[in-house]
Amino acid sequence: MRLGVMASGSGSNFEAIAQAIRDQQLNAQIQTVIYNNPGAGVVARADRFGVGHQLFDHRQFPSREALDAAIVSALQAADVDWVIMAGWMRIVTPILINAFPNRVLNIHPSLLPSFRGIRAVEQALAAGVKVTGCTVHLVVPEVDAGEIIMQAAVPVLIDDTAATLQQRIHTQEHVIYPRAIALCCDRI
Ligand code: GRF
Repeated sequence: MRLGVMASGSGSNFEAIAQAIRDQQLNAQIQTVIYNNPGAGVVARADRFGVGHQLFDHRQFPSREALDAAIVSALQAADVDWVIMAGWMRIVTPILINAFPNRVLNIHPSLLPSFRGIRAVEQALAAGVKVTGCTVHLVVPEVDAGEIIMQAAVPVLIDDTAATLQQRIHTQEHVIYPRAIALCCDRI
């Protein structure tokens, strides 16, 4: 499968996917990385893996729809068949979702349907749950609400801060995201 990765930040999930491909644990190619923040860490990681990247700065677009339309054109030009949102911090519109029906994945740092939306790790700490985790799911217009593909559970420790818990969740994200993508391969 030909992947287009969308990322806003450090890109550690991009790297986990790229490494799984390199290690032949995932039969896929990353065609391009789409990012929206100049200076995002994902760029250096993409360079290290020899993957091309394209900046779509959301501040330069008049609406979410205009941003998504430009991204769809780039993904189609790159011959992408699955879109992998890996820390993409913008809400996507039906323009993008409908261009790749049932082929847009996201990873979220909670056990959905708990703690949707932003600051999911902080939400889990505030709720006092003793187990949280991460979820790979299909993207639908409602935020963090599509079909669940894979989850990993992560314990919340007594002295956790958002940073330490986030780190433990991240480690599991890197395990399940490549596996979830491979699972989707088998379903098509
Ligand atoms: C992850 O925690 C993911 O769950 C959330 O954004 C973060 C991305 O991290 N959607 P990275 O940029 O892949 O390191």
